[in-house]
Amino acid sequence: MDLARTPATPDGNPKMADVPPIAPATPPLIRREDYRPFAWAIPQVALEFDLGLDSTTVRARLDVTRNPAAEPSPVLRLNGDGLQPAEVLVDGEAVSSWVMEGADLLLTLPGEAHQVAITTCIDPSANSQLMGLYASGGMLCTQCEAEGFRRITFFPDRPDVLSTYRVRMSGDRDLFPVLLSNGNLTASGRGPDALHWAEWHDPWPKPSYLFALVAGDLVVNRDSFTTMSGREVQLGIFVRAGDEGRTAHAMESLKRAMKWDEEVFGREYDLDTFNIVAVSDFNMGAMENKGLNVFNTKYVLADPDTATDGDFDAVEGVIAHEYFHNWSGNRVTCRDWFQLSLKEGFTVLRDQLFSQDMGSAAVKRIEDVRVLRSVQFPEDSGPLAHSIRPDSFREISNFYTATVYNKGAEVIRMMRTLAGPEKFRAGCDLYFERHDGEAATCEDFIRAMEDGTGLDLALFRRWYSQAGTPQVEVRLEQDGGQAVLSLKQTVPPTPGQELKQPMPIPLRVALHDRATGRLGAESLIVLEGAQGSFVFPDAGPDTVLSINRGFSAPVIIRREVAPQDLVFLAAHDDDPFARYEAMQDLVVSHLLGVVRGDPSAPEGRAAIGEVLRTVVADTGIDDLMRGELMILPGESYLADQLAQADPSAIHAAREGLKGWLARELEGELVALHQRACAAGEGFDAAPRGARKVKTQALVFLAAGNPALGAEMAAAQYDAATTMTDRQGALMVLAGLNSPERTGRLLDFYNRHKGNALVIDKWFALQAQSLHPNAIEHVKALARHPDFTLRNPNRARSLYMAFAGNPSAFHAPGGEGYRMIADTILALDPLNPQTAARFAPPLGRWRRFEPGRAALMRAELERVAAAPRLSRDTYEQVSRSLG
Ligand code: BES
Ligand code: ZN
Repeated sequence: MDLARTPATPDGNPKMADVPPIAPATPPLIRREDYRPFAWAIPQVALEFDLGLDSTTVRARLDVTRNPAAEPSPVLRLNGDGLQPAEVLVDGEAVSSWVMEGADLLLTLPGEAHQVAITTCIDPSANSQLMGLYASGGMLCTQCEAEGFRRITFFPDRPDVLSTYRVRMSGDRDLFPVLLSNGNLTASGRGPDALHWAEWHDPWPKPSYLFALVAGDLVVNRDSFTTMSGREVQLGIFVRAGDEGRTAHAMESLKRAMKWDEEVFGREYDLDTFNIVAVSDFNMGAMENKGLNVFNTKYVLADPDTATDGDFDAVEGVIAHEYFHNWSGNRVTCRDWFQLSLKEGFTVLRDQLFSQDMGSAAVKRIEDVRVLRSVQFPEDSGPLAHSIRPDSFREISNFYTATVYNKGAEVIRMMRTLAGPEKFRAGCDLYFERHDGEAATCEDFIRAMEDGTGLDLALFRRWYSQAGTPQVEVRLEQDGGQAVLSLKQTVPPTPGQELKQPMPIPLRVALHDRATGRLGAESLIVLEGAQGSFVFPDAGPDTVLSINRGFSAPVIIRREVAPQDLVFLAAHDDDPFARYEAMQDLVVSHLLGVVRGDPSAPEGRAAIGEVLRTVVADTGIDDLMRGELMILPGESYLADQLAQADPSAIHAAREGLKGWLARELEGELVALHQRACAAGEGFDAAPRGARKVKTQALVFLAAGNPALGAEMAAAQYDAATTMTDRQGALMVLAGLNSPERTGRLLDFYNRHKGNALVIDKWFALQAQSLHPNAIEHVKALARHPDFTLRNPNRARSLYMAFAGNPSAFHAPGGEGYRMIADTILALDPLNPQTAARFAPPLGRWRRFEPGRAALMRAELERVAAAPRLSRDTYEQVSRSLG
């Protein structure tokens, strides 16, 4: 990033620099501290595309002026990736004063302001990385974040260079009847011959990563939204013909998100058009390009026959997330990629709050915490741990992580907890007002929060710089009529950060009385330093502590707590999250006891059985919440509680508990299933909750009484009128060695053949299954005619699902590890970004028993030794071994 120190190149050099264009053995480390502003500003960009699936010509005209805020340099460095310039003009004249340095084009410019015009030619159909301009199912689309624009044309491809864009594109009318780009359509026309063209103008200055272009044969669901100031915005959701019937939910979600952002954050949309395009080949979930969001079909298309209730929620959440970026990301963008959490952490918080408001806030919070604990906590305790604002990277794509996203959201949520919602809103308003139109930093955000809320966040800033999940040791002591709460925090060492400073930890707490059942009022305490104590007057001998209510801080609470206190909290706490938490704590401590061979384990099991009985029968909670409380902690979360885990022991303990609970409560679970089956259809909370507990009951019953489980699952499958019931039943059946299994799997395939998103589910539920032959099934599925590594959804549906199947992935001989390493090696040359995402499961080798650890490590070493690894995979694998 140290662009200011780039040596100036003399005029008149040969066109290629002398260094051979091979990738360096070790990709360079980019450091946050090396940030320098770019020497040039590019106020305006004009792009002209002659579109073709296997040959597209791009003519770029850049208005270039010196950036007065930067150290002056005559050299204009334009990033490229796999590009050759066909023509370079400066102020209309062909020049030879440019050189290639690696993949970048360096121009030496004499004056203060110039116009630079560069022509490049690209082959979208050969683009298997799905970065830049690529072909997907006959259409053309772009993905530019983080560094894809440089695969389209030479440009300062960094988020602090903001430009207004005019785009003209022309292409075959039949192949590409729809031509879209950012902003507003300004002109269009026909000719010559079979061609037509369109011009788009985006008035808002933006970094290149927000550029988008789409050309294809698409149909559109149109609607409109009137903003709070009375402007009408034209909304369009573009999909392949035949998919339009599955866009209604996305459209309703979009309108709800637009309204919510006005009401809750005061943010209004700022263009006349907002378009969404769904594409089936996409590395990520979706992308917030200004005025033209591009989505993975998975997060647009939904109808009850093909999408589960969970899929509906995911569509709503992702649509909202990308829409919210219009302010938190686009109007205020990031200065550099180290600031990624500025837009992503904040926007994840915004989408979480939105989803809380749209449905059950308690259930949404529990789901978000479950994701944090099962994905981010392991990341934070492993070799890839990094702070939410990283200090260095080799490949930025590797830093779109649960830490930057989900922990980033938790950090901002803590500021909201500390400030209260009204002051938090004032802080946000100030941030948007101060930095509108700018490329900002996390520090800018924190400062606006301080100025807008009055909080002093001096120590709180450590949450941005330190990695690792803090652990808080909790002791509650009775002292006469009062209780003294003593807290002590430690932040564990992480790679490159041995010593840590204490961080302010906001904890919502309440003291309940077990004897009387009286629930205490909630208060907020803040552990500012390494230790602290808090006195609660009027606390009786049966005081039960409810702490980190609502998961007010992303920390691990360590405390000795009597099982009867957890039973009380699980059954009676008025904070739904605390109830869930107590249930989890009961199960975790029991299962860890079983794994360690603790003789008191059977008592813990009985306590869990009693709580589960209460949960199944409790009329005070709805089924959505009941379903949540019935989910046992996952094996990866359990493994994370141990310094060295034996995955077989954890799996056996968890399955054993499930089976025991199911046998103890068989009557109750069957009755619950029957009651839920009799609940009505529809999509309100009640029928959705019924569907959730229905499948949860099956999950238990299949473990306790496989024959009964299989029979009930098959009946649920056969009677299903929604994908939720059908998939839930099939998921359970896929794990059972029962006669009902094969026929239902075949039926599902035939019923949904040709619907890629549903066939993805079919692959995933077999790869994730509890079936003892899951590995064999995955091997066979890899040879299925519908399987391909070239489509990221399909590759993930088989192998990510498999890597998330603990008993299969950790098969004792190491076969699962070999399969994931083979997948990385096969995928890396095609799609490095997606390939590198398979490294983290192997990277956790240190946390497993020595036999597994050696096998996992050996597979990572095999990948590391392969020639010509991508930067993406190289970085993940070397950090995992290091
Ligand atoms: N800006 C990202 C998309 C992105 C990520 C592009 C990485 C390029 C590289 C987008 O806003 C995003 O965060 N999408 C998430 C979904 C979201 C709901 C968290 C995704 O794609 O997973
Ligand atoms: Zn995002």
